[in-house]
Amino acid sequence: MQKLFLTEKEIRGLLEKFGSPLYVYDEQILRKCCREMRSILDVPNAHVSYSVKANTNLRVLQIAHEEQLYADTMSPGEVFMALKAGYKPHEILYVCNNVSGEEMKYCADQDILISIDSVSQMETLARTCPGARASVRVNTEFGDGHHEKVVTAGKKTKFGVELRFMDEIRRIADEAGIRIVGLNQHIGSSVKDPGNYEAAANVLIDEAMHFPDLEMLDFGGGFAVPYRDEDQELDLDAMRAMFRRIWDRVSAEHPNGKNISLHTEPGRYISAACGQLLGTVEAVKENFGKTYIGTDIGFNVLARPMLYDAYHEIVFPGHEDGEKKAVTVAGNICESGDVLAKDRLLPIPEVGDPIAILTAGAYGYMMSSTYNCRLRPAEVLIRQDGSAELIRRRETFEDLLATFNLD
Ligand SMILES: Cc1ncc(COP(=O)(O)O)c(C=O)c1O
Repeated sequence: MQKLFLTEKEIRGLLEKFGSPLYVYDEQILRKCCREMRSILDVPNAHVSYSVKANTNLRVLQIAHEEQLYADTMSPGEVFMALKAGYKPHEILYVCNNVSGEEMKYCADQDILISIDSVSQMETLARTCPGARASVRVNTEFGDGHHEKVVTAGKKTKFGVELRFMDEIRRIADEAGIRIVGLNQHIGSSVKDPGNYEAAANVLIDEAMHFPDLEMLDFGGGFAVPYRDEDQELDLDAMRAMFRRIWDRVSAEHPNGKNISLHTEPGRYISAACGQLLGTVEAVKENFGKTYIGTDIGFNVLARPMLYDAYHEIVFPGHEDGEKKAVTVAGNICESGDVLAKDRLLPIPEVGDPIAILTAGAYGYMMSSTYNCRLRPAEVLIRQDGSAELIRRRETFEDLLATFNLD
């Protein structure tokens, strides 16, 4: 059962002070999730690389780094943010997908390991960064995930190198003096069947046997978090046992096994649970027999429900014990798809009451936009001593003009 980590009074106070809507993150929960992820890699020489795209707020990045996490990045912008937050180049992996040689060079020049995911991209790396070190993102055909849009391996995705092209990858790398020091993969997000994760890991290990000098194996992220009250928590003991089996196999069978570092790339497991999105009820109305709760949380603030039909628990603080009715909770964006929850059994709040969206710390703020010229909200960290720290200010109308040349 997920819970609000703030009282109704605290929520009203924060909305008053920092504006509505507002992302809040609980530092204690964030640190706990970082430690849980580290605890499942209870083997020598292993690293959790936080997939920073889930939440790239500088304070969140810093806290994850204090918790000894590395960083998994998807763009030069994310690399820039990770470096700003204090990650060292050797702690950062840049996972390329269809990028320019310039982007690769930006990372290679800073000694950041680059993961290549096609023959074509290996040719680009060879042309622009001869002599570089590289990892190769392999598509082992085991795709999984909570929605087809987040399945990132298998026969229907753009990601990764098919095993049949690995010889060619190696030939191009050899000719350009590129050392392949790592193999990585990511099969998808909120992986439903942990057996798929392990099966994919075993294919990656099979492939690793063809790379005797390998230094790193990265099995990806995708560890599920409970978004619904009835969802199971991740079985950390089972995960720990799985990584122990993976380590046993790598260390026993690979020629460089004892020196290979094992990595994972969790994004949402690190930052989802610590985040709650607060907003305000602005209207309650009937339309042709349906009750709509209108809020200021449009899909410009939280895109996941609109993008993937994602489910988030919704709470109207102070009304938890109220009588429930099937309602549709909507945002304030001028699109019919701007719906947070459809026909959900919820108590009926009043105009001016707060609303809280749970488990919103991953892929929340990071996917927000200024669509409809709405301003992105502020982000606040609830520190371990209970105090509230503004970690990103709310945007202003001036920010809407910031990229124009007004001279
Ligand atoms: C390459 C890669 N690694 C890691 C992740 C993190 O996934 P998750 O947030 O589900 O753990 C993603 C997400 O899509 C990804 O594409």
